[in-house]
Amino acid sequence: MSNTILEIKNLRTEFLMPNKRHLVAVRDSSLHVDAGEIVGIVGESGCGKSITAYSVLRIVPEPGRITAGEILFRGEDLLGKGPEELREIRGKEITLICQDPLSSLNPVYDIFWHFNEIFTAHGVQKSHAEKIEQIVGLLGTVGIVQPERKLHQYPHQFSGGMRQRVVIAMAMLLQPKLIIADEPTTALDVTTQRAIFDLLGGLRDKLGISMIVISHDLYLIAEQCDRMYVMYGGEIMESGRASDVFNHPLHPYSAGLMDSIPSLSFHQEHLNGIKGEFSSVFEENPKGCCFAGRCDRVGEECLLTRPEMREIEEGRFVRCLKA
Ligand SMILES: Nc1ncnc2c1ncn2[C@@H]1O[C@H](COP(=O)(O)OP(=O)(O)OP(=O)(O)O)[C@@H](O)[C@H]1O
Ligand SMILES: [Mg+2]
Repeated sequence: MSNTILEIKNLRTEFLMPNKRHLVAVRDSSLHVDAGEIVGIVGESGCGKSITAYSVLRIVPEPGRITAGEILFRGEDLLGKGPEELREIRGKEITLICQDPLSSLNPVYDIFWHFNEIFTAHGVQKSHAEKIEQIVGLLGTVGIVQPERKLHQYPHQFSGGMRQRVVIAMAMLLQPKLIIADEPTTALDVTTQRAIFDLLGGLRDKLGISMIVISHDLYLIAEQCDRMYVMYGGEIMESGRASDVFNHPLHPYSAGLMDSIPSLSFHQEHLNGIKGEFSSVFEENPKGCCFAGRCDRVGEECLLTRPEMREIEEGRFVRCLKA
């Protein structure tokens, strides 16, 4: 028995648009998360990071559909589960933390109410005193000082960073096996971003919770994650140990992405970016590489043959004919 918590195999998630065209948001994507691992997903806006996360939780918005693949959570295929079973898994076994903590908090209720809702939704029987003790403990764990005094405060009485800590504590309440954090720090200032990443890393170290962290911040992903996946146009282009992918990207797209990070230590005349923009989401079965149109290493074969994911060295995968 492997220690893999989540295994996504050849996932395809598409939107059937009103014009009858299919927008393929996630294409033939495979990824896995081992027990106690933090896995990062990076890639430019619209590349399919959130839809990958929503596919795992089976909350892809209409008119989206998962049309191929398997999502194995602790060995069981989530795609075969009914609504009741999924409701049990969501919020209990797998929890989601979103970009905007306010979207998870109801302004008219205090902090205790939010935790109590989760207990109620999952039929947890505990005395009031037991609940208070557990919630206060958790709020302390996520770095909220004097948690017993915060229990009956309202979301607007907290700063953005503190709200995100409350949301992280809520995500941990039922001791999930996997937390998916979709840009958990985007709405926060730089110092708070790092503090939240440190908190997530600490929770993994202390409690062994596995995590998927989606972020635009390549530095933080490289620093805090064990492995990372680079997505482009709905496909996973590269994966490997986070520091390896960050320092020695193999795919021309990853290389461009890493190169577009503004350097703090050197004076830079201009920011390097990747030319052009992604255009082939509507191609149901593209012939060549989906990055070919923007790639500076493109060859004739790249326009004709769709690259498969290849293992270049142990644990290091790339979807590129030229790598
Ligand atoms: N409700 C929807 N209806 C139609 N298309 C959608 C819908 N939600 C997402 N998409 C499309 O799916 C693709 C992937 O979107 P997704 O939200 O996963 O991107 P992302 O990588 O999370 O981007 P960002 O970094 O901006 O959050 C995009 O082309 C997007 O336009
Ligand atoms: Mg997103």
